[in-house]
Amino acid sequence: MTQVENKPAAYDTPFVPIEKIVALCKRRGFVYPNSEIYGGVSGIYDFGPLGVELRNNIRRYWWWSMVQMNDNVVGIEGAIITHPKVWEASGHVENFVDRLVDCKNCKRRFRIDQLPEENIIQNKCPVCGGELTEPRRFNLLMETYLGVVEGERMKTYLRGEACQNIYLDFDNVVKSTRMQIPFGICQIGKAFRNEVTPGNFLFRQREFEQWDLQFFVHPSEMQQWFDYWKEKRFEWYEGIINHKDRLHFREHGPDELAHYAKKAFDIEYQTILGWQEWEGIHWRGDWDLSRHSEYSGQDLSYTDQNTRERYIPWIVETSGGVDRTFLNLLLDAYEEEPDPTGKEPRTVLRLHPMLAPVKVAVLPLQKNKEELVTTARDIHKTLQRLMVSQYDDVSNIGRRYRRQDEIGTPYCVTVDFQTLDDGTVTVRERDRMTQVRININELPMYLLERVTWQ
Ligand code: GAP
Repeated sequence: MTQVENKPAAYDTPFVPIEKIVALCKRRGFVYPNSEIYGGVSGIYDFGPLGVELRNNIRRYWWWSMVQMNDNVVGIEGAIITHPKVWEASGHVENFVDRLVDCKNCKRRFRIDQLPEENIIQNKCPVCGGELTEPRRFNLLMETYLGVVEGERMKTYLRGEACQNIYLDFDNVVKSTRMQIPFGICQIGKAFRNEVTPGNFLFRQREFEQWDLQFFVHPSEMQQWFDYWKEKRFEWYEGIINHKDRLHFREHGPDELAHYAKKAFDIEYQTILGWQEWEGIHWRGDWDLSRHSEYSGQDLSYTDQNTRERYIPWIVETSGGVDRTFLNLLLDAYEEEPDPTGKEPRTVLRLHPMLAPVKVAVLPLQKNKEELVTTARDIHKTLQRLMVSQYDDVSNIGRRYRRQDEIGTPYCVTVDFQTLDDGTVTVRERDRMTQVRININELPMYLLERVTWQ
């Protein structure tokens, strides 16, 4: 992937308050609260016109890196609803629980694993000091029902982790493709969790979108592939952020491992919320295929074509999400830059150009000069076939640049009087605000080289 070429040399900006991102997202059409006119639903969001472009770019880039660029990885798209036994076999019915306590005084609710240790020992609310209730267990799976006749309806679940489809389709993929171990299956899709303490905007939601690679290996090669994908995924995140020093690995302690993992590392990113998980790299071993073999009665073992050895493959999982990537990228990219002329600070989203929702804005210098407007519209029409382009002629050119900076548009093309004489336009770059003059014919290639991944 090409790196951002014009990044400012010093990149040491303070942590951005989440409220600034929430406000920007609402104001500019990235994210809206779900069902807002009815008071909203906690932990569920809708994505607006710019949000959907950013999400699509994030998804496409993940898919390109993981599926298209790896000969030993294929993709699937499984259904959100599955047979209920899937969730018994996966261990989620039994183990997918949060332990909670309530404060008897202020009525606030806390997950035990998020309480400071001293509050657990003293049984004290971290906010008001009140006494805490006995811990209670809550299962995070969201129930739903199939069928229409009361009494005959089958209870099942909206998937609590997207990866289960991959285990269910493992045997189909082996039989319908020529994939041989070691190989991987990828999927992006919605997951649902009845999070008891949703919050921090998109960070912890009840409906969110996960991406998974499940990489199937011979047990003897597990360590090598685990290390391989752990490094690969770290590099992937490093490549799309500005603050590379805010990314690190954290290994899970024995008491925090998920029920399916023997070993796990989180790739964490530091924001105003502290160091938080962005993606998990899990050593799932033979847990999943063994359990599904046992619960379904279908043998999901694999036969090596060369050695004829038959075994249950082990699995390396890399599991992250579109929503945390969306939020972290905005937190990473947002900057308020002082204006040297002393006017309002410039708000700029320094998103990687390939992920920016709008790639280019085409601006006639003046709205009341027909030739400028016609030329700018023609350029926009040419560019929009190749990338997301916006035409804008409302208000003065400085304001229009600011509007584009705030949504992260990497390039603005301005059509001025010189354009009418010599067929050149200015291309202004977002981060350094430098301008170059380019011939209109060269514009598509100039921009494509800078806004697409390769
Ligand atoms: N299949 C493994 C699994 O689901 P996880 O650590 O629970 O592992 C993987 O989730 C990723 O999914 C996380 O790293 C995070 O990016 C995303 N994720 C999990 N819960 C989320 C939530 N409530 N809201 C938004 N994203 C979430």
